[in-house]
Amino acid sequence: MTLAEVLGGATDYLERKGVETPRLDAELILARSLGLSRIELYTQHDRPLSEAERAAARVLVERRGKREPLAYILGDWGFRRLVLATDARALIPRPETEIVVERALALIEGLDAPRVVDVGTGTGAIALAVASEHPGAWVTAVDLSPDALALAAENAARLELELELREGDLLAGLEGPFELVVSNPPYVTGDEIDGLQPEVRDWEPRLALVGDRTPELAADARRVLAPGGALVLEAHAGHAQALAATLEELGYADVCVTPDLAGRDRVVEGRWTR
Ligand SMILES: C[S@@+](CC[C@H](N)C(=O)[O-])C[C@H]1O[C@@H](n2cnc3c(N)ncnc32)[C@H](O)[C@@H]1O
Repeated sequence: MTLAEVLGGATDYLERKGVETPRLDAELILARSLGLSRIELYTQHDRPLSEAERAAARVLVERRGKREPLAYILGDWGFRRLVLATDARALIPRPETEIVVERALALIEGLDAPRVVDVGTGTGAIALAVASEHPGAWVTAVDLSPDALALAAENAARLELELELREGDLLAGLEGPFELVVSNPPYVTGDEIDGLQPEVRDWEPRLALVGDRTPELAADARRVLAPGGALVLEAHAGHAQALAATLEELGYADVCVTPDLAGRDRVVEGRWTR
């Protein structure tokens, strides 16, 4: 069988399994499995594949057919300028979270050595992006999940970026002061989880998805923020305006909501000026 025939077969299989982007996923899996770029899949489309090559690709395609997320199968995923190791220990970093980082960086711009804490760090995505894009920053990354912290530690080592990693519940045990508290906390409601795609519902950690403790985090952040420090939170699109109102009630200044690339209210920020 040629590469083109295997690619066609994998695409049809993934389509039957309900994968949203079967051709793209088949290409990415096959390219990774064969050690080729996606362009090379086309320049070598007549190349016959050996039985060993087909067997190796089949294992990965079958995993995708079970709706395991592509990022877990490939084992890495792009986030801003970084490539992060990804597996079932932590949430896959999302494009909307890149906007959280953008706002976080804007709010610490001009500070030489801002102290930053990322609450619920997962793969380390936000913490590592801030560390790499604001080289003076001192970044602490907290998570309740030891598995997620282990993955964040692997990512930090691989990227040669320094983080202080802490196992903990939100900001418990931290004193600050921090110039930035940033978080993409769990915000899926219990009612919503069953309606999510199988890739999310059945594969990503529940602890990373379901939760409603963001107002508590916003309230406690006042304790650890330096005067003038910023709070940046990713929010459920349906709850972002209510969260912004909560920040105002809590006494934050300059509260605003930034939409994601799809135009949904997504990132809520404020400054602690007291
Ligand atoms: C939505 S994920 C975000 C992961 C990563 N920051 C990102 O944006 O890709 C939420 C993370 O918060 C962690 N978490 C959940 N409850 C927590 C708590 N009470 N304290 C600290 N971390 C918590 C989860 O383990 C998970 O890693």
